[in-house]
Amino acid sequence: MILSRNQLGFIFNHVPYGGPFTGTFNEGTTMASNRRKIAVIGAGNVGATCAFVLAQMKIADIVMLDIYEGFAKGKALDMSQNGQVLNYDGAITGTANYEDIAGAEVVVVTSGFPRQPGMTREDLIAKNAGIVQQVGEGIRDHAPDATIIMVTNPLDLMTYHMQKVTGFPANRVCGQAGVLDSARMTHFVAKAVGCSEEDVQAMVLGGHGDTMVPLPRFTTVGGIAITHLLDAETIDAICKRTASGGGEIVKLLERGSAFYAPGSAAAIMAEAVLNDRKRLIPASAHLTGQYGLDDVYIGVPVILGAGGIERILELELSEEELASLQGSGNFYKSQLSELLGY
Ligand code: APR
Repeated sequence: MILSRNQLGFIFNHVPYGGPFTGTFNEGTTMASNRRKIAVIGAGNVGATCAFVLAQMKIADIVMLDIYEGFAKGKALDMSQNGQVLNYDGAITGTANYEDIAGAEVVVVTSGFPRQPGMTREDLIAKNAGIVQQVGEGIRDHAPDATIIMVTNPLDLMTYHMQKVTGFPANRVCGQAGVLDSARMTHFVAKAVGCSEEDVQAMVLGGHGDTMVPLPRFTTVGGIAITHLLDAETIDAICKRTASGGGEIVKLLERGSAFYAPGSAAAIMAEAVLNDRKRLIPASAHLTGQYGLDDVYIGVPVILGAGGIERILELELSEEELASLQGSGNFYKSQLSELLGY
């Protein structure tokens, strides 16, 4: 006998078990849960990848919110049905309603347009600023205690915009870029050295765009700076390829931009906040004089934990490194006033 969805809903609502069942057996439905909650705004390529990685970490229930409700619900149901295969069982739900993100301790924001070939991340600003405005108001009203991890591009500008829209303390609004950019550099270093990616620790600062600042002196393999392992020409090529790493993928895909590494990097940051890991990673943070930059979001080394950006570390940079970081920060500062009116 094939049961209709309503009949299934009836049965699951009336099967006695240890706790209350909070709805019909349907996509978007959750069992009563004591788990913590992470919301992912935007159920597109980056958002869904982030949610998928988080599901496998088994650290929280996950709510995906998208302007297209069915899109979010469909992806949530698909991921939920993968629970047995990959051994996770938290609730993964989809919604278009901001009330459903209430109680989220971390909100990852991926809603917005991705780049197409020939576009810079800054070309997205007109389209994505309005989306960030709308999403920020939803988070402010329904998850006022959350820490926000921004992924929407242009990253550093959209992170600044989000902080202004929500009015959240700056430490609770940060941007995912450095983890991704460092992972890209890691990959290129591992290939050049011929070693495991696991042994590489890269450090990339600055804006998430053409002005990003890979730091070879602070990039190590097994604790050894790459300046001792690779020649200057190879290092230079790695830095250039890192800075244009996203563009290389946009060109290959011909439609849309990278999502596996960006989504995973955002999940790593969400986990660091949720579990108070105090990870030392590069992230887009609000500067108030550090590195000679004021009132701008830019990638710097931070301690990321339950308090969001708990500390910004000031490295002793060479004159050249500092000039590059300041050039990047000043570029975004001018964009903030020219393009966003701040
Ligand atoms: N509210 C909620 N969701 C929205 C809104 C909105 N106002 N506007 C758009 N979205 C959703 C879209 O419906 C879509 O599902 O955001 C999702 C974006 O997904 P994709 O188009 O697949 O883009 P993606 O590759 O995930 O990139 C998202 O991350 O890395 C950045 O540059 C990238 O800005 C882009 C963002």
